Amino acid sequence: MIIEPRMRGFICLTAHPKGCEQNVKNQIAYVKSKGKIEGAKRVLVIGASTGFGLASRITSAFGCDASTIGVFFEKPPTEGKTASPGWYNSAAFENEAEKAGLYAKSINGDAFSNEVKQQTIDLIKKDLGQIDLVIYSLASPVRTHPVTGVTHRSVLKPIGSTYTNKTVDFHTGKVTDISIAPCEGDDIENTVIVMGGEDWSMWMNALKDANLLANGATTVSYSYIGSSLTEAVYRKGTIGRAKDDMEATAFSITDSLKDIGGKAYVSVNKALVTQASSAIPVIPLYISLLYKTMKEKGTHEGCIEQIQRLYSQRLYSGNEVAVDDKGRIRIDDWELSDDVQEKVAKLWSQATTEALPDIGDLEGYRHDFHNLFGFGFEGVDYKVDTNEMVNVSSIE
Ligand SMILES: NC(=O)c1ccc[n+]([C@@H]2O[C@H](COP(=O)([O-])OP(=O)(O)OC[C@H]3O[C@@H](n4cnc5c(N)ncnc54)[C@H](O)[C@@H]3O)[C@@H](O)[C@H]2O)c1
Repeated sequence: MIIEPRMRGFICLTAHPKGCEQNVKNQIAYVKSKGKIEGAKRVLVIGASTGFGLASRITSAFGCDASTIGVFFEKPPTEGKTASPGWYNSAAFENEAEKAGLYAKSINGDAFSNEVKQQTIDLIKKDLGQIDLVIYSLASPVRTHPVTGVTHRSVLKPIGSTYTNKTVDFHTGKVTDISIAPCEGDDIENTVIVMGGEDWSMWMNALKDANLLANGATTVSYSYIGSSLTEAVYRKGTIGRAKDDMEATAFSITDSLKDIGGKAYVSVNKALVTQASSAIPVIPLYISLLYKTMKEKGTHEGCIEQIQRLYSQRLYSGNEVAVDDKGRIRIDDWELSDDVQEKVAKLWSQATTEALPDIGDLEGYRHDFHNLFGFGFEGVDYKVDTNEMVNVSSIE
């Protein structure tokens, strides 16, 4: 079929297998161009199919020569209907891993469930024995709790009072004011249950109880802080409470790994266009101003550049892992540098529908958004008939 983008708000209903393959190949080429990293050799990535998790799987495999198991929740294709992009990304990743002689297997299912944890445990026992590094990179709006069976939904809302600020519809470029009512009832609790640290901790307990964590095993989960411009809806909002919980969980996991000399880290990453972040109001405007500023300064990074730097200059630099006063690894350092933040704040005050094409990088935002679904890649012929029925070769 001829596959074209079909955008609906902050999602795209189609994905292009060849474009997703190109995306994965580009990321692999970047990691290879930066040279080998002396890192973990047996890696489990939970949330491995898109965004930071995919970049982590690629960096593990092609930077560290690691065997990888990837867990994700993606939609396979059916005749005439494309798969979700993470499916095609994973198919492409596994092909490239196989060509390079690297072990790679995937599990497609709900990572919050006991069943998927058990399936992963069985696979590790069968194939890898133990794991040296667990990357936890889930972003989900919903979690069915494995013990209570209750389905919780996260919300992206401010706490305490209505928040009004500018936002942009990145498809049309229209800048408008948006007012977001404060959370109510169980909103905070639900958001913490979905995006906080409990599931990460359940994974680590399950792996440890099954004796699948190697001595000195490390685990890393991803967080975000961001600027004062977005804090009402992000870091001081409901999602921020979940991130606080995630960050606190790193300490309790480290405690539980003491006897094997293991360690849990949270890495605070940069704001980037992913499926998860495009759903958050206000953030696309912030990102378009941030991209413009960081590209001008030459400090712009995408997911793969961020994660390659996390591995080579933080986790496996040969020195002790540098952390901030709250124990977090910071690879959002360039985003939060004073000069970048001052510039973005200045641009923010000037942002209107008319001014944005000049002062912001809306084109860059749109380009990255299209790329998430495999569209807009050089070297891909979008006019030719493309087979949507792609398999992930080693799906369990
Ligand atoms: N995008 C940003 O700007 C940004 C910045 C800093 C930190 N982070 C954090 O990075 C982490 C990953 O976010 P992302 O932006 O890469 O998201 P993403 O949407 O690109 O990826 C989410 C991944 O989780 C998987 N997933 C979702 N629900 C699942 C489920 N129930 N079972 C199994 N897999 C499931 C998806 O298949 C996918 O692999 C999150 O913790 C996020 O808060 C994101």
